[in-house]
Amino acid sequence: MAEFVAILDFGSQYTQLIARRVRESNVYCEILRFDTTPEELSSHDLKGIILSGGPSGVYEEEAPRCHPGLFELDVPILGICYGMQLGCECLGGTVIPATGHREYGATELEITGQADLFEGVDKSTMVWMSHGDRVDDLPDGFRRLAQSANCPTAAVVHDANRFYGIQFHPEVTHTPQGRTVLDNFLRKICGCTGDWSLRQFTQETIAQLKEDLGDSHVVCGLSGGVDSSVVALLLHRAIGDRLHCIFVDNGVLRAGEKEEVETTFREHFKIDLTVVDAEKRFLDELSGVTEPEAKRKRIGETFIEIFEEEARRFDGAEYLAQGTLYPDVIESVSPIGGPSATIKSHHNVGGLPEKLGFKLVEPLRYLFKDEARLIGEELGLPKEIVHRQPFPGPGLAIRALGEVTAERLKVLRDADAIVREEMETYENYASIWQSFAVLLPVRTVGVQGDQRTYDEIAALRVVDSTDGMTANWVYLPRDLLARISNRICNEVAGVNRVVLDISSKPPSTIEFE
Ligand code: XMP
Repeated sequence: MAEFVAILDFGSQYTQLIARRVRESNVYCEILRFDTTPEELSSHDLKGIILSGGPSGVYEEEAPRCHPGLFELDVPILGICYGMQLGCECLGGTVIPATGHREYGATELEITGQADLFEGVDKSTMVWMSHGDRVDDLPDGFRRLAQSANCPTAAVVHDANRFYGIQFHPEVTHTPQGRTVLDNFLRKICGCTGDWSLRQFTQETIAQLKEDLGDSHVVCGLSGGVDSSVVALLLHRAIGDRLHCIFVDNGVLRAGEKEEVETTFREHFKIDLTVVDAEKRFLDELSGVTEPEAKRKRIGETFIEIFEEEARRFDGAEYLAQGTLYPDVIESVSPIGGPSATIKSHHNVGGLPEKLGFKLVEPLRYLFKDEARLIGEELGLPKEIVHRQPFPGPGLAIRALGEVTAERLKVLRDADAIVREEMETYENYASIWQSFAVLLPVRTVGVQGDQRTYDEIAALRVVDSTDGMTANWVYLPRDLLARISNRICNEVAGVNRVVLDISSKPPSTIEFE
C-alpha cells in the first residue's frame, strides 16, 4: 500500500493545486470531503492530513468543520489558511475577522520560530496571502513560527498534537519557497519516503484492470483526444483484444483526424477499432440549425444514438470505458460544488452506461490531465496526440458560425489546417492552449487577380490558458500572422479576408459559439 496523504477540501480554489504539488513530491494523495471521518481514513497507509483553505470564516455557524477525531489519529496535520484557523480553533485558539488587516497577494514573511517545517527556507521570504481572518489568541501548547506586517500569527505549531498551521499558500508559484515548506511537511514531519510514481501507478492500474475485468469485454469510445486514447491503451494492455474501440466520424472533425486515429490505434497498436462514418447523418441533423446550443444538443443526441447502436453490436460486452479525470471526480466532493453557472452545455455521454446496461470503467479517475498525458507518453502514444489541444465535442459545427453545410465545413477545415500547420512552426507552440480558425457568416468584398470576390471571413483565435476557465489572447509575431493570412486568402476558395480575435475570456469565451 502506497503512503497516503489526505487533503480535506474546505472549498479553496487552490485545493487541486495542493494535490498536484504533493504528487509531484511522489506522495500519493487524494482530495476528500471536509467531513471525512477517522474511520474512512484508516483503510489507507495514512501519513498525514492537509486541511485546505476555504472561503468561510470559522466563527460562522454554517462553516464547514473537520471531524474532531482527526486530531487523535496520531498523524501530523497541516492547516493552510482556513485550515490553519480551523485547526487552531479545534485546539482551543480564537479566530477573529481581521477587519482592516486583510492581506491579499504577495507579502513578506518573517520566520521567527524554530521548526522542521521551515528548514531550508530563508528567514525572510515572499509568500502568497489571501485571507480576511486571523488567529488571535493561542492557548498553551502552541508556538508562533512566523509573522507578516499585517498578521502577527502567520505560522504556528502545536508540538504535542503535531499540528502545523500556515496562513499563506505554499502551493502557488507566487510562494517561491512553498515547495520546500510542503516537502518538509511530507518528508521531515510525516516521514514520507516518496514511494509513488506514475510508472508504478500505470503498472498497478493495468494489473488491477486485469483482475477486475477478468474475461469481460469492454467497449471504449475514442474521440481522438488524449483522455480516451490513454484509456484505450491502458485497457488494451490489460485485456488485449477483448477491448473494442468505437470512433464516430461526425463530419465536424479537423482535417486528418479520422486517419490519424485509424493509423495510430488500428495499424500501430493493433486495437480492434470500429470507425463509424456518420457524416451524412450529423449534417442532416444540423441542416438549418444556426443556434449554438441547438447545434450542441443535436450533435450530442445524435452521437449517443449512434454510439448506442454500435455498442449494442458488442452484445457480450459488460463494461463501457470512460476517460473521466480527477477534477471531474473532485467537483462532486467539493462543498461548494462545480461551476455555479453553465455558460455552454458540454456534451458528454452521461447516463449512457446505465441505459445500455453497461458497468462503467474509469481508469483515469484519480489522475490529473497532465498525469494522463505522461502515462500516454509512457505507453507509446504519439506526441501529436499526447500534446493535442483541447477540441470541443461539437467540433467544427460551433466554429462554422451560422448554418453548418458540407461546403462551409470544407472551407473552414482548409483554413484551419493552414492555421495548424503554421502554428506548429511557432517556437512557443507548446505553450498555446488553443489555436484555430473560425468561419464567420459575413461576406465582404475582395479582389483577387482582376476579379471581384464576395466571400466569407476567417477569424483567427489563439489563446493561452491553464484550464480553459479564463484565457488571454496571444500576441503572435507579425510574420507568422502574415503567413497565416496570406495562405488562407490565397489557398482557401471561399475566404477573402482574415481577422484576428483580440478578446480575452472573460468577457468573451474561447469558442465563438
Ligand atoms: P469556452 O468557449 O466556454 O470554452 O470558453 C472553454 C473550453 O471548453 C471547450 N468547449 C467545449 N468542449 N464540448 C466540449 O467538449 C463543448 O460543447 C464545448 N464548448 C467549449 C473549448 O474548446 C475550450 O477549451
